[in-house]
Amino acid sequence: MVKMLHFAWFGAPGAHYWNVPSAGIYDWRRGDLYMDIARLCERAFMDMVLFADIPAIPATYGDSNDHYVKHGLEVHLDPAPILAMMGGATRHIGLGATLSTSLYPPFLLARMMGTLDHLTGGRSAWNVVTSANATAAQNFGQNELPEHDERYNIADEYLDLVRRLWDSWATDAVLEDRERNVFADPAKVKPIHFAGKYFRSRGPLNLPALPQRHPVIIMAGTSPRGQQFAVTNADMVIAHKNSVQDMRAYSTRLRNQLTAAGRDPASCKVFFSIKPVMGDTPAMAQEKWAQNYEKADAESGLSYLSAMIGIDFSKYDLDKPLPPDLPVQGMIGKLLQYTEAKKDMTLREIAKHEGMHETFPICGTPEQVADIIEQTAIEGGADGFHFRVKVGDFQYLTEIVTKLMPILQRRGLARTSYAGPTLRENLFAF
Ligand SMILES: Cc1cc2nc3c(=O)[nH]c(=O)nc-3n(C[C@H](O)[C@H](O)[C@H](O)COP(=O)(O)O)c2cc1C
Repeated sequence: MVKMLHFAWFGAPGAHYWNVPSAGIYDWRRGDLYMDIARLCERAFMDMVLFADIPAIPATYGDSNDHYVKHGLEVHLDPAPILAMMGGATRHIGLGATLSTSLYPPFLLARMMGTLDHLTGGRSAWNVVTSANATAAQNFGQNELPEHDERYNIADEYLDLVRRLWDSWATDAVLEDRERNVFADPAKVKPIHFAGKYFRSRGPLNLPALPQRHPVIIMAGTSPRGQQFAVTNADMVIAHKNSVQDMRAYSTRLRNQLTAAGRDPASCKVFFSIKPVMGDTPAMAQEKWAQNYEKADAESGLSYLSAMIGIDFSKYDLDKPLPPDLPVQGMIGKLLQYTEAKKDMTLREIAKHEGMHETFPICGTPEQVADIIEQTAIEGGADGFHFRVKVGDFQYLTEIVTKLMPILQRRGLARTSYAGPTLRENLFAF
């Protein structure tokens, strides 16, 4: 039986695409690019657009910012104001931002996400990250990030706090009663007086209850502690996995953990990253893939990997596999992506893979790509996929929207209408 899937656009609001062929059409610093992305994705009935973000230019690779600045890597706009513009240009599509529980004050985040949810009538999502980069911590006045699992302990408390802020207004608190001259019922708006191990906040939030009550909570960490955090907190997970077997192992483990925790396993949607390479014939698609591989800059891939994992790979032998006992304090899931799949990949091959922004490799005609997506969803246990797109690669997005999505829709694998006004309704419609 055909299973309807969810689809999302996933990218970073940054400069790193500056040298793709269609880069000159838009300026990544201006809003029209983002509004057109949102309109195009909505035309294809995608569930959401989701921005990655690291609020720092890393200094991991070669122990300096230089490589990242030279190639425009991690040079990003702040995703939150962009989402407000995208929301203004659309009516249905969900709007997600990556924001870190290790960096942003909880009240600021609760208010900002709350504002976005109000502005867009309930279309906001928050991709909760704990950050993996010491430079980001230093930008926010910390010397170092807390240790990996401790960051998730902090994040658990952070989520508890922001939820209490979002709940500090009862849904029926606003009366706007002109006759009695009452805006809201004070009995239904209460301070929270939160005093935890890591955070304190008085509350209430200075915003009425949100249209979705809580923004959709997304989670991308795949370490054991990260997955435990997802089981407690997430409505949706996004993961990069390099094989169907790894997808299956991950989705099965997560659903078993959800059940064990007393949650309905369908209450957390599982998305995997894809970046299909398409051509009018299989040979043309293969040729495009080969060209992408040829063009991929291994050093940029290596610098990205360094920033994500928190290890300076400029000091490692490129022709050897990753050592098994790397002391990772950054993103353990990124390491697992390679150590789980093909254990014998050399660092050079991994660097090329990262340079291509490749995840699960899919290549073929649009019809073949649709076949692979369907089969991967069944075998890997996916509820949906997010297309990993470079922000200014409008040519690629247009190809996805005009060539691939209509095939998926004709086959009953992708929606042809939205279920309701909020992201939550659309995400849980099937
Ligand atoms: C698909 C995907 C997207 C991610 N996007 C971001 C991001 O935009 N910003 C960020 O700081 N971390 C990002 N991460 C990293 C994780 O969210 C995570 O916070 C962290 O690095 C620890 O993950 P772990 O539990 O796997 O160790 C992403 C991870 C994945 C799999």
